Amino acid sequence: MTLATSPIGVFDSGIGGLSVLQALRRELPHEHFVYLADSGNAPYGERGDAFVQARTHAIAQHLQAQHGIKALVIACNTATAAAVESLRAAMPQLPLIGVEPAIKPAAASSQTQHVGVMATRGTVESRRFRKLLSEHGQNVQFHVQACDGLARAIELSTLQQPEAAGEASEIEALSARYISALGQFGLKTGEMDTLVLGCTHYIFIKEELRALLGRRCN
Ligand code: DGL
Repeated sequence: MTLATSPIGVFDSGIGGLSVLQALRRELPHEHFVYLADSGNAPYGERGDAFVQARTHAIAQHLQAQHGIKALVIACNTATAAAVESLRAAMPQLPLIGVEPAIKPAAASSQTQHVGVMATRGTVESRRFRKLLSEHGQNVQFHVQACDGLARAIELSTLQQPEAAGEASEIEALSARYISALGQFGLKTGEMDTLVLGCTHYIFIKEELRALLGRRCN
């Protein structure tokens, strides 16, 4: 049985969901949270649906059994894409909130009607993501890039030196490669004026990405 004072569970494959936790704490200062980073199994993005589903179910059960959570926030786009539906079916009594790439607000705010999307392979290849694009893609063209290795490099960059040193240049190289693969950013017709960061890890390199884009993008 859960109480009003029971905690809300928040989980991600690693550090990415901390950006979501920060926002939750700001919005809900009176709630208690328990955060689980599945770092031993990160990253999820290139692992395949069956693995991510199994981890998500195991984590939900663990948080419920050990912490008596009253709700669960899946602060991971990849896990939401792979597992939110099966988890809802398996634990119907547990309120579930998933995060998904911000396709809808991006489509609404783009002036050029070209939007770039960076996300993990698991997310971009998912049925949920394709549905999201088709729901909001009537007037907007989405340019989608699966960013293999990027979440892993961001996760590793948080380790103690000297391991983290190599990851900074890996992050730089991968970011440059993926931004250039997406195409032309800018405010002219046909250019992308909006970039969606469809993985909670990428929020931590927002400024680096912004520097690569210059002033040409939201
Ligand atoms: N932070 C996660 C997401 O939002 C997953 C990154 C990963 O583990 O590959 O998709």
